[in-house]
Amino acid sequence: MAWKVVAKGETETTACLPGSSQRILIGSHSGAVHLEISEVTIEPQAEIAGHRHPFEESFYVLAGGGVVTIGPTSYSVAADDFGLVPLGQAHAWTNPNDQPLELLRVRSPQPRHMRGEDPTYPTDDVTPHRDGIEPPRAVAAPHRPVGRFDSSQLPPPGPLNMKGYRGPRIGGVSIWMLVDELVGAIHHTMFIVEFESGGDRRPAGDHFHPFEEAYYFLAGSAIAHLEGEDIPVSAGDIVFCGVNDLHGYSVTSEEPMRWIEVQSPAPPPNGATFFPDDWQSDADGHA
Ligand SMILES: [Fe+2]
Repeated sequence: MAWKVVAKGETETTACLPGSSQRILIGSHSGAVHLEISEVTIEPQAEIAGHRHPFEESFYVLAGGGVVTIGPTSYSVAADDFGLVPLGQAHAWTNPNDQPLELLRVRSPQPRHMRGEDPTYPTDDVTPHRDGIEPPRAVAAPHRPVGRFDSSQLPPPGPLNMKGYRGPRIGGVSIWMLVDELVGAIHHTMFIVEFESGGDRRPAGDHFHPFEEAYYFLAGSAIAHLEGEDIPVSAGDIVFCGVNDLHGYSVTSEEPMRWIEVQSPAPPPNGATFFPDDWQSDADGHA
């Protein structure tokens, strides 16, 4: 089994493009074959020159602010903004502030490091900008693949209802899609998941998927049930599950538990989530 828990601050910092550094939380070194997930720091007053690469890249701003230029458009982003750089799209970053810009970065298909440590290709098609437009609230689109997440837009908690599965085996959950095929992503998804507090203390029953999945914790705490092991997790930790890794969650905090979830490859229209309990018996009315 490929599952892995990476605790906050456990990952070493390595060089990235000039002006930035990265902590690769999940990647080929940790058993993943589709995903690479990193925390990235863009230094104050740094510019990341134009580049492109043969994989998709999505980001979620954890702290600080900056300007991302994707093709012809520059966006001024701050905490809780997110976006997608489609495969092959030229892009650049600027941090015009005196504080670091902290990002969660997702890459899929997993970069193959063909030329040493840098899997990106420089381009003059875009240059860094110090000013950009404000992202639209919440909803990104293919022509505007940057958005602003606002937690007040989360729907009320309820049973899971998303592509590839709907049913009661996961309950008390609110989901807000950030990056998926509607935005132009082909290889991965990224979305916000929040489990209510004070409800079912084990809202996510054991299940598995035909794709990789990871959960970057933003708030609250939980027990991750991973192939029979129970591991406490909280904000700043990340859990990775490989294909077919059995996983479920129990909420342990009094506040809601929130994470950024990532999947790759993107879920198929059915057969995306397998709950053994759904297939063992219909006596309880769930099958
Ligand atoms: Fe899952």
